[in-house]
Amino acid sequence: MKKSSVFDCSVIDISKISSQGGNITVAENGVNMPFDVKRVYYLYDVPSGEARGGHAHYELEQYIVAAAGSFDVVLDDGINRRRVLLNRPNLALHIVPGLWRELDNFSSGSISMVLASHVYDEKDYIRDYQTFLAYKR
Ligand code: TYD
Repeated sequence: MKKSSVFDCSVIDISKISSQGGNITVAENGVNMPFDVKRVYYLYDVPSGEARGGHAHYELEQYIVAAAGSFDVVLDDGINRRRVLLNRPNLALHIVPGLWRELDNFSSGSISMVLASHVYDEKDYIRDYQTFLAYKR
């Protein structure tokens, strides 16, 4: 995904089943996911002022959800940067492959839940920004 751009990413409103007792949001392969989910992980207990991410993926696609609290995702395609606020459990940011991302502005108690298209593979990461820029050129 050398050519992917930050504008290929969008915030999707996942369906919400509401009742007086609260809400349920469902992400289901083949129903409302643009890719099959192979792995779910979540990031929590992030210290105040800390930033996470700081890498790109060659192949991995992700949905990122603020399961609790809020944080920002900064997307970068080597030319454009976009800052996206996530602050509701029914909103998912779809991140296509080939984009640099950073997460910051974590609120206290926030939980970043990630639905990923592949199992963990360190070879799929680009962790150096100059290497990323060279890849996108
Ligand atoms: P990383 O993806 O760099 O985290 P973040 O983007 O939140 O800063 O992962 C941090 C560490 O955790 C790194 O050593 C790899 C490890 N890790 C796994 O072993 N399995 C996983 O599924 C993930 C996401 C990370």
